[in-house]
Amino acid sequence: MADAFRDKILAGKVAYVAGGSSGINLGIAQRLAEQGARLAIVSRSQDKIDAAVKSITDAGGTAFGVSADVRDYAAVEASLKATHERFGDIDVLVSGAAGNFLAPVVGMSANAFKTVVDIDLIGTFNVLRASFDFLKKPGASLISITAGQGSHPMMFQAHACAAKAGINMLTRCLAMEWGPAGIRVNAISPGPIAETEGMARLAATPAMEAALKARIPLRDYGAKRDIADMALYLASDNAVYITGAIMDVDGGSSLGDASADALTARR
Ligand code: NAP
Ligand code: COA
Repeated sequence: MADAFRDKILAGKVAYVAGGSSGINLGIAQRLAEQGARLAIVSRSQDKIDAAVKSITDAGGTAFGVSADVRDYAAVEASLKATHERFGDIDVLVSGAAGNFLAPVVGMSANAFKTVVDIDLIGTFNVLRASFDFLKKPGASLISITAGQGSHPMMFQAHACAAKAGINMLTRCLAMEWGPAGIRVNAISPGPIAETEGMARLAATPAMEAALKARIPLRDYGAKRDIADMALYLASDNAVYITGAIMDVDGGSSLGDASADALTARR
């Protein structure tokens, strides 16, 4: 009979997930743990971290948590060091911490713009940069979580658009610089994902949700599992020749407006 543990595709691997205490990133952490990885969960709130770690250990996985704000380089570095001391070299690193809200540019202070850029872009730089000494080399897979905002301008999303566009370029630059060390650097760009804080903020009413779904080619939100499966793929040996890629998992959202109205207007 096959050994169930050996059959798991990340058996023996170490994964670190920044922003892993809720939503899409927690879904990724749970999926990596289910496939045998030992997990470090990092975010600000100790209560959220404790609940996330419990969800993994209750399901039979291995996880521990560290509280750190990704805007604080020293705290990020300490969380990576703690992970390395506990589990050894890091095989899979996910940078997914983010903050967002809808606001027109004239409705946001300089600090509001800076806050989102600091969490999303500078935070991702901090996580990736500080990880270098703690990574499995060769072999590590780094995955940042970007968004459609990184490629397509959106109203009331200037801060997130600027930040996620920066993450996309950082992904490509690091893929070039760190490829020779055997480190792969990719990003996942989720479309609208059901039951997340992000969509609660960006499409807060049933009418906004329906209008958004009507424009998506596949006509629905995605599930956290859809993003987790892409992360699992990028983390796995099946993706060893993929680096510098921005993987869209978005039901076709990034292709443009596929609503019936748009189709009629083009006839
Ligand atoms: P979420 O549940 O709010 O997840 C954000 C995570 O980041 C939380 O664990 C939060 O925990 C942590 N975090 C926030 N600020 C932090 C900071 N300064 N330092 C450390 N950790 C911090 O949101 P989500 O909707 O699942 O989004 C997750 C990721 O997917 C984000 O990168 C987002 O841009 C991306 N995304 C989401 C969607 C969507 O449909 N939801 C679509 C495209 C892309 P603490 O509060 O404990 O810090
Ligand atoms: N519209 C305009 N400005 C806003 C805003 C909104 N809806 N929400 C916050 N801001 C401004 C604040 O007024 C402040 O600016 P000011 O100092 O000039 O007044 C600035 O943004 C920072 O806010 P603060 O609450 O101090 O930041 P924080 O670091 O405690 O929290 C946030 C960061 C604002 C992004 C917070 O919403 C957060 O922690 N989000 C994480 C969860 C999340 O956004 N999930 C979705 C991910 S896609």
